[in-house]
Amino acid sequence: MSERTFVMAKPDAVQRGLVGEIVSRLEDRGLKLVGGKVMAIDRELAEQHYAEHRDKGFFEDLVGFITAGPVFAMVWAGEDATRQVRSMIGDTDPADADPGTIRGDHALDLGRNVVHASDHEDAGANEREIDLFFEEHELLDYERVDETWLYE
Ligand code: GTP
Ligand code: MG
Repeated sequence: MSERTFVMAKPDAVQRGLVGEIVSRLEDRGLKLVGGKVMAIDRELAEQHYAEHRDKGFFEDLVGFITAGPVFAMVWAGEDATRQVRSMIGDTDPADADPGTIRGDHALDLGRNVVHASDHEDAGANEREIDLFFEEHELLDYERVDETWLYE
């Protein structure tokens, strides 16, 4: 089923010039970019976004990192998009991420893993995160010209 999912190039990706690489991989796969913006995450948004980790020992480091510089927030659409993007970004810990995944090819450290994507095992996380970062009018619904060649 076609769905939307939230993806973010984290501050390390922006600083390391990896935004284009991340966008390119998702585009090449056939996913459709329906929203995107460079933005700063303040403490309040960081706490909301990572609410599930509030009680973890690494929470302060996580909030400090995600608020440390601009991010590139995106919404991508396509068939089974949330699960497909998660498999493309690789394991949370880049040390365990398979080569060929974004983290497996571009990161080494758990606390600097370059990209965020909605968790497909957490039902509704994609739309929840889209709501947190975007207004509906910032998202466009359109067809890619190659859609007939991407989908049967
Ligand atoms: P996100 O896409 O960033 O949400 O990563 P994820 O969904 O693959 O992992 P998860 O939501 O479980 O953790 C969120 C972030 O917290 C990860 O991306 C890591 O940067 C960080 N993190 C997770 N577990 C640990 C940990 O055990 N120690 C430290 N220092 N950081 C962690
Ligand atoms: Mg997560």
